[in-house]
Amino acid sequence: MHVIEQTSVGAPEVLQLTEAPMPVPGPGEVRIRVAAAGINPVDAMVRAGAIPLLGDPPFRVGWDAAGRIDALGEDVTGFAIGDRVMGLIRFPEQVGAYAQFINAPAAQLARIPDLMTDEAAGALPLAGLTAWQALVSHGRIKSGQKVFVHAGGGGVGHIAVQIAKAHGAEVWATASAGKIETVRSLGADHVIDYKEQDFAASGPFDLILDHAGGEHVGRSLDALKPGGHVTTLLDPGEEITARAEREGKTLVWMMVKPDAAGLTAMGELVRAGQLKVLIGGSFPLAQAAQAHQALARSPLGKIVLTV
Ligand SMILES: NC(=O)c1ccc[n+]([C@@H]2O[C@H](COP(=O)([O-])OP(=O)(O)OC[C@H]3O[C@@H](n4cnc5c(N)ncnc54)[C@H](OP(=O)(O)O)[C@@H]3O)[C@@H](O)[C@H]2O)c1
Repeated sequence: MHVIEQTSVGAPEVLQLTEAPMPVPGPGEVRIRVAAAGINPVDAMVRAGAIPLLGDPPFRVGWDAAGRIDALGEDVTGFAIGDRVMGLIRFPEQVGAYAQFINAPAAQLARIPDLMTDEAAGALPLAGLTAWQALVSHGRIKSGQKVFVHAGGGGVGHIAVQIAKAHGAEVWATASAGKIETVRSLGADHVIDYKEQDFAASGPFDLILDHAGGEHVGRSLDALKPGGHVTTLLDPGEEITARAEREGKTLVWMMVKPDAAGLTAMGELVRAGQLKVLIGGSFPLAQAAQAHQALARSPLGKIVLTV
């Protein structure tokens, strides 16, 4: 079978198509014939050697996959050969989802709603679960709250806007000029061009999803109500963390986790017409390097590989 592997860290061109033995599913695992694999910023960071999650190369990046189950390991219940499934698989350990076949723990998989495309299902897991865990698990989002989503046109942000809207929040988001109309069409009530306007002036908010970390989280704290909550995706630093505590605001720096229940809940939103995954670029498996280049150009929504 074909897989994308790298034998050194560096620019996107280190991602090479190669051959590997067919994986054999162990106990509790299924084998997926991959139809689509999402690309995330963490893939690019590990590929480049900026985050050594997988140790020294050779290794295979990629954690998002959607496809059909084509073999079952022992003790797997609830799934059958031929089922369409999606998952954030084994993150942050190696799975190598840019491949024709992968093994996945059945407990980390959700069924793909009938009307959802393979591309959308392959692109949803990591970004979608990040948005879900940030707003629902950590943020305990409630109807009627004022919720602010930074980077509303990005992979995580465009899904977060829709999750917040589906929970009955009044939603603010930032986006660069070319993405504003799309972010509005996803349900954001107010969209701010962050290059022209200070988002903090629109607060105070009950709940904020901060994508940037560091001093940026300090600005998010400025825009938060007393007792409000910020979930940040990147390190806020000790000083900002201490400031949040002093001000009686909750600040969580999260790391996304595989979560079949969260994915199933998002599948329900897709089914109900309340969530769609925007595909900003789609590439065949052999063009994984071009897909990583496309991610670096700040796409609208998600970049995905089709297999
Ligand atoms: N901790 C975790 O578990 C976790 C999980 C997922 C992602 N992340 C991190 O979260 C970040 C976002 O991930 P992603 O997948 O959404 O990335 P993405 O798809 O590349 O989207 C990021 C977006 O941020 C926007 N942006 C850049 N500077 C901005 C600013 N100052 N204010 C508002 N928007 C700005 C860009 O859009 P414009 O064209 O509008 O500028 C870009 O599209 C990445 O750094 C990623 O590594 C962390």
